Amino acid sequence: MRLRTRATRIGLAVTLTVSGLALSATGASAQSRYLDPNASTPARVSDLLKRMTLEEKVGQMTQPAVVNMQGDCQWSGGALTESCMKHVLVDLKAGSVLSGGGETPPANTPKDWADMVNAVQKYAIDHSRLHIPIVYGVDAVHGHNNVLGATKFPQQIGVGATWDPQVSEAMGESTAKAVKATGPQWDFAPVEDISRDTRWGRYYETYSEDPYLAGSLGASNIQGLQKSGQVSATVKHFGGYSQPFAGHDRTEAHLDPRYFQDTFLPAYKAAVDAGSDTLMVNSGSVNGIPAHASHYLLTDLLRGQWGFKGVVVSDWDDVKSLQTAYHLTDSYAGAAAIAVNAGVDMAMLPPGSVDGYVQGLLDDVKSHKVSQRRIDEATSRILTLKFKLGLFDHPYVDASKADATVLGADKDLAVKAATESQTLLKNDGNVLPLSTGLGKVVVTGPSADSIPNQDGGWTIQWQGIPAGVNDPGVTIYQGIKNVIGDHAKLVTNPSDAVDQTKGADAAIVVVGEKPGAEGLNDNEQPELAADQQDLVANLQATGKPVIVVVVAGRPLALGKAADAKQLLMSWLPGSEGGTAVANILFGKANPSGRLPVSWPKNTGDEPMFYQQLPGTNGGASSNYDPLFGFGAGLSYTTYAVQDLAVSGSHTVKVSVKVANTGSKDGDMVVPVFAQQPVSQILVPPNRLVAYTRVPLKAGQSTTVSLSFPLSRLAVTQGDINGSGTQAVIPGLYKIVAGGKSADLTVH
Ligand code: BGC
Ligand code: BGC
Repeated sequence: MRLRTRATRIGLAVTLTVSGLALSATGASAQSRYLDPNASTPARVSDLLKRMTLEEKVGQMTQPAVVNMQGDCQWSGGALTESCMKHVLVDLKAGSVLSGGGETPPANTPKDWADMVNAVQKYAIDHSRLHIPIVYGVDAVHGHNNVLGATKFPQQIGVGATWDPQVSEAMGESTAKAVKATGPQWDFAPVEDISRDTRWGRYYETYSEDPYLAGSLGASNIQGLQKSGQVSATVKHFGGYSQPFAGHDRTEAHLDPRYFQDTFLPAYKAAVDAGSDTLMVNSGSVNGIPAHASHYLLTDLLRGQWGFKGVVVSDWDDVKSLQTAYHLTDSYAGAAAIAVNAGVDMAMLPPGSVDGYVQGLLDDVKSHKVSQRRIDEATSRILTLKFKLGLFDHPYVDASKADATVLGADKDLAVKAATESQTLLKNDGNVLPLSTGLGKVVVTGPSADSIPNQDGGWTIQWQGIPAGVNDPGVTIYQGIKNVIGDHAKLVTNPSDAVDQTKGADAAIVVVGEKPGAEGLNDNEQPELAADQQDLVANLQATGKPVIVVVVAGRPLALGKAADAKQLLMSWLPGSEGGTAVANILFGKANPSGRLPVSWPKNTGDEPMFYQQLPGTNGGASSNYDPLFGFGAGLSYTTYAVQDLAVSGSHTVKVSVKVANTGSKDGDMVVPVFAQQPVSQILVPPNRLVAYTRVPLKAGQSTTVSLSFPLSRLAVTQGDINGSGTQAVIPGLYKIVAGGKSADLTVH
């Protein structure tokens, strides 16, 4: 391999002055307007664009993965290789670089990251004619998850269970701080695909099956991520990614126009409206059209109707996929033309795919398959992003500060988020919370003492923390031990655990699934493994209290374990998850999480969601028949909705009097639904229109005001072909919360 033999490794300890680009930088005259920090962004962009060659513009539209410049410049990773940096950043003039899952610097410390990103940045700036900085992207989807020692927040599905936009925003802010400290300025988060099918390997990356809950939590996350102005968020994966055929990742989706518009699009729209700087395209096809080839999706809808002004980036190698997977064309140039003309501004490129893309797009312009205008448009958007992020003025980060900023940062926030996400589903006889004065408590099950399991995929590596790698965190066993000390006995062998439970006061059994990501994490039978079901059943047979804790990215069909008398869903709670679980089990915190998704009885009942439309069906389970429904979640106190009033027309105001009628303080989550007793177009029996989370002291009651735009109730009109426009259908609506309801008449 030519690259390998020519490769010379360069160290990461590049010495850098942390400062902007001097106006006198070689090759750019003092009159260069684009280098003037006082000029407006549009003025800087148009000045720079005028100076650029076609090759430089196509380069801006190119985002190679950093592995293209590490080690053997294929997949080895490792130290940066100068000859490959030259190829990617100078010859091909790439304007952006990403670290895909697990594409880390060799030692994977925050400082190591900052040195690596600074080194790539310095190479790009020093060697490009116009000194254009790169923008560096990374998947920080639950904290800065690739980095050893960075705090890992709960995965998105757990954030969904918090029903807490404020915590989602705070997580965004914290993540951005960590990301920026290590160099990158672009985060490929949040995911705005909605949960539909537990078989899908990316289920845990979604917030909720409900479009409004997902959209609102993502919107807050984006506000947090972008608050400093130094990091950009990404709405992904646009659109309709999350209900692929038979739950297999990146296969065809068939989403009729009404379902697509009314149910799938709102969450992405909420994120676009929240001001996300960028958007990533769905790798799959929808209704027979790969999303990367959809001019309707990426231009007519996104730009024309929604007014999106930011950068559209492809997903992983998905420009080439139009040739190699979808066969829309027989050449890479053909694929580039389709994608760029549909609206893709930048291509994300693994090794083996970079040169072909650049050459293909250059050929397209020369053969007039792609216009100069389209290239200028995409380049302007990318340059605008770079100016917005301040990259021309402050391209480097101070690597000496990275460790202190990132290592173990914001653990309290991680504990809070994980605690709020804990969803108590069964508590027969109020056995929970457990007394801290118990004698022996057996702690067992495959996820009782496992950081990799509680962190899930996209942690250190793409598929999760690999064997032999230690990433700090508090396991559930450690969390329990921190509360009850040596009364907690970790027993890993299942039959020993059953024996020991006979002589114990209680057993806590932590079951669930192993980490994974994307298609490798698809599961045709998403249920609790048979040996784990047996473990739960055998523990229960001892007659002792048995608390079942599930650590998983999706509701697993429980089989025998459905008989559990105490059941806590912990989701993938992240590095501080053990503290959160222990706080709940021993009553230091009152459970407040609510299911953001439906929990099926059996795997055969997927896809499942509470918005299933009515039908004439009569067979068992053919209607919405979950084990635990959307919004389920118990607490250690009791709550009531005491009054509900509705007013307004364009904006509907809902006032709800809520009360903590029990004896413990807690946070009450209040979902508000709309129902339509009569509708010519089938609508879900319930649609979430608003929600809030209210802290209430024992015995306290309060009145909260919520509101929602009437347009949230819009549905697509027309016959079976859904050919009509979206509108709110006049008639009677019922607004319901906690068993109370009020009428809303739409004229
Ligand atoms: C995933 C994206 C991710 C990208 C970069 C893709 O395979 O679909 O969600 O942002 O890789 O790692
Ligand atoms: C990368 C991921 C990417 C995946 C796509 C992996 O090699 O590390 O970031 O999402 O490939 O299939």
